[in-house]
Formats: sequence, structure tokens, C-alpha cells
Amino acid sequence: MTIQENVPLAPLTTLGVGGAARFFAVAESVEEVEEALAFARERSLPLFVLGEGSNVLIPDEGISGVVLKMAVRGITVEDRGDRAVLVAGAGALWDDVVDAASAHHLFGIENLAGIPGSVAGAAVQNIGAYGAELSRVFDAADVVDSETGTRTQIARDAAAFAYRTSFFKQHPRFCISRVTFALTKDAEPDLSYADVARARAAGAPLATPAEIARTIRAIRAKKFPQDEGEGTAGSFFKNPVIPRAHAEALAGRFPGLPTFPREDGRAKVSLAWLLDHALSLKGYAEGPVRLYEEQPLVIVVRSGATAAAVDAFARAVAARVHDATGIAIEREVETFGVRS
Ligand code: EPU
Repeated sequence: MTIQENVPLAPLTTLGVGGAARFFAVAESVEEVEEALAFARERSLPLFVLGEGSNVLIPDEGISGVVLKMAVRGITVEDRGDRAVLVAGAGALWDDVVDAASAHHLFGIENLAGIPGSVAGAAVQNIGAYGAELSRVFDAADVVDSETGTRTQIARDAAAFAYRTSFFKQHPRFCISRVTFALTKDAEPDLSYADVARARAAGAPLATPAEIARTIRAIRAKKFPQDEGEGTAGSFFKNPVIPRAHAEALAGRFPGLPTFPREDGRAKVSLAWLLDHALSLKGYAEGPVRLYEEQPLVIVVRSGATAAAVDAFARAVAARVHDATGIAIEREVETFGVRS
């Protein structure tokens, strides 16, 4: 494996901004992952793993350590009677995994179709959409401990999944090389999410995993920018989870605000709705950066923008939300090279 120096990272991300990696390695096997981790460890350099770059903001000054581009691919499906086990390399495309499941008529991830990113990114982030979440089908992940170089496995019970977070996000020293998913041949598909229910009412075919995946992709195509010359990382912010009393007070002030009470006494509120109806910020722009007209949780960046401009814009949006609602919103997109 060759280690390259000063490799621009912006083209490897969907936002398309930011600087270069001091050292850069592409790992196509678990042995190459181990090699890259050893390179960083021996030189006491910080190591950051990049998947498809669909949820990261690279700082303009770049990354002064080692960036490992995860390229361990391969997807296999094993039949287990009424279930199946799907094993995917950490660098496989998430949507190829959805296609493989569809091809074998397996349920469990069809509602997660069309999400850009890698398999490991999907697990780190515990991707969720249209009522489904990766945590429900995750079985285990093979990982390499970057501090010791040893291989181990993190099972479902230890994976600590919650809304857009996981054990892997909290412990980035463990580098995922492979993920195993448990899927089923028979299931009652979840078609309850508003956008999906609308498609159903309009007669969209939704019986098989492949049909559901196709419908979900069509819904997503309308919600996310597809233009050349523009970058995006999907939802830039998380939907806030706040004390229920605060959510109820906001719903009183802003009738129509979607709130989703949880068992822990808190409630999730729709930030897209607040940005749209409470703050009228749809399409709000500062130079080359704006909130997308179809989905204001999504930040869109024209090519040539800087990471600093994206960062300043996100701060300005957060300040406006805080002033209007008292909510301190959190980012979903990770700033690369910064460990929280
Ligand atoms: N809404 C508006 N105006 C808009 C758009 C939406 O008022 O312009 C309101 C609607 O009431 C709608 C609600 O906001 O019912 C929620 O919108 P949407 O269904 O688009 O979902 P979301 O909560 O904004 C989340 C995920 C998305 C995922 C969608 C679909 C987060 C941070 N985002 O968005 O995930 O695709 O649900 O399930 O949880 C991502 O994480 O990058 C991502 C794109």
C-alpha cells in the first residue's frame, strides 16, 4: 500500500470544500487497514477514516495526520431459512447493500434506499429514514483497534445505537472493516411515514423490497439537490431532542409543529418545519451557501466555497434558531479531524 502526501480531500466529499490530507492511504483489505493504522501509530499521528465523504466537512486547513480512505468492499448474502445474513465490506456503497438485499428479496433496509455513503459510515452514524434505522438490522462489526492494532468484533449489544450515533462514533479508535446485517424474507413493511403513505395513496407499487426501495429513491430525489456544481451532505443538523415541556410550549407558539414524544420524557421536534414555518429560512443564503428550498435541514454549497463559509453559515442558522426557540441545535455533519 502506498501512502501519498498532501492529497486534496474536497473532491472526495459530497460537500466539495476543504483542504488536503498530510498523509493519505487507500485500504482495500483488512491487512491494508492494519498497515495504515500502524503507519499512524508508529509516527504518533492522528488517524481519521474517510468513507464516501457524504457526511463530513473538511476544514480549509486540511488534516495534519493520516487519512485512511476505506475501500474494503464486497457484499455476500448467506441464506439461513427464513432469515439471511448479509456481510458487507466497510467501504462498500450503502446503496449497493440495499440493492443486494432487494435482489434477494430481503426486508429490513428497503426504507434506507438512496442514502449516499459507505457501509461503515452508515453504521457509525446509525442512518435512519422513513421510519427505519440501521440499528434494527445491525448484527455485528469487525473492527481493528487503532491503538493496539488488534482485530476484534463489536456485537449489537455493545454498539450503543441511538439517534444518529453509536459506539463507533463515540470511540473512533475502533476502525470498522466489515459489517454483518440480519435481514428477513418476510416482513410487514413500514409504509407509515407521511411521504411514503402519500406515494402509496398515489398508487406506487410497494409490495417487494425492490419496489419500496425504488419509491423511496424517487421521494429522496425530490428532497435533495442533484445539481452539478453544488455540494451537500444531506441533513446538516439533527432534529433536536428537547424536554417535553419545551416542545409543548413551542407547539403552542407555533401551531402545526411536528413533535414526537419519547419514552425518556423528551420529545423530538422537526427542525425542517421550524426553519420553514417559524423562521421562514427556506432558501436563506449567504454568498455560495444556502438552505435548500425543498428541505431546509439540507445545506447546499456552490462549488468554490470555503469550509469557513459553510461553518459561519451553520453558526448563523444555529443562532437564529436559538434566538427564536431557545433550542441549541446540533450538527449531524461531522467536522473532519475534530474529535468530539
Ligand atoms: N417540513 C417542512 N418544510 C420543508 C420540509 C419539511 O415544514 O420544507 C416538515 C414537514 O412537516 C415534514 C417534517 O418537516 O413532515 C420532516 O421532514 P422530512 O420528512 O423531510 O424529514 P426530516 O425530519 O427533516 C429526517 C432525516 C433525513 C431523512 C428524513 C426522511 C434527520 C436529521 N434527518 O429529516 O435524513 O432522510 O428524515 O426520513 O434526522 C440525513 O440524516 O442526512 C437525512 C437526510
